Amino acid sequence: MSDGAGAADGAGGAQAGRDRVRRRLAGSGRVLVLTGAGVSAESGIPTFRGEDGWWKQEDPTKLATQAAFDRDPSHVWEWYEYRRGLVAEAEPNPAHRALASLERSGPEVLVATQNVDDLHERAGSQAVTHIHGSIFRVRCQGCGREREDRRHPLPERPPRCDACGGLERPAVVWFGEMLPPSPIRRTGQFIDGGVDVALVIGTEASFGYIQGFARAARRAGALLVEVNPSHTVLSGVVDVRLAGPAGEILPTLFER
Ligand code: OAD
Repeated sequence: MSDGAGAADGAGGAQAGRDRVRRRLAGSGRVLVLTGAGVSAESGIPTFRGEDGWWKQEDPTKLATQAAFDRDPSHVWEWYEYRRGLVAEAEPNPAHRALASLERSGPEVLVATQNVDDLHERAGSQAVTHIHGSIFRVRCQGCGREREDRRHPLPERPPRCDACGGLERPAVVWFGEMLPPSPIRRTGQFIDGGVDVALVIGTEASFGYIQGFARAARRAGALLVEVNPSHTVLSGVVDVRLAGPAGEILPTLFER
């Protein structure tokens, strides 16, 4: 670690950190972007653990579980309908748009997001993988069929599968569940191909696999950069820490 935490503190250090990232990005062929709830915060979607986090009003460990769904699927769906409404009304913010413009400007970019919203795609990012699934997809518990459903509100709560009549659930990762293999494989393969810059944006990085991706990208040659107003478990590991809102910082990094 060279100009890690130091780059976050004080205007001079922050500027030096930004310059270092901009220089590396200018010659970058491959950029890994790991995002979390913080990248959508400026779109009005509360983070999970922030002060206005909706998970404080609704206990996620009770709601986002298979056990809660088995007990009361209608109640769990009611909560997801609230969240689907928030996402549907939200617009991509300057952070999402800056990442999309980075991808358009030349380097091979993979956005691996923990977010179940679709704001990266709506901003124009093409290479996006959702590690925790998508809030606009549903999966039948009976036959396993998965489909997109953007209707809000849903005509039937809980929704049922057209094919087998089984109960459908949100196709997102709940607590205690396995991760979908495809996004994990895709992110791992991207890292294996070499990474010049890895940006970790708006996430607590509380899950071991997120920390693992960040560390693996650094081992693969990446300058590891954190963009977050607060410190996280990765703050001591990164090469550059840029302290502040992603919507303010990212647009200043990607002007080519
Ligand atoms: P958290 O809510 O845990 O963390 C949000 C992070 O965003 C914090 O580190 C904030 O400091 C930061 N943040 C807030 N506003 C920001 C801004 N404007 N710009 C940049 N950063 C900002 O969200 P995640 O780390 O994404 O999992 O949480 C990961 C997972 O926890 C979720 O995907 C969910 C939950 O358990 C599942 O559903 C499986």
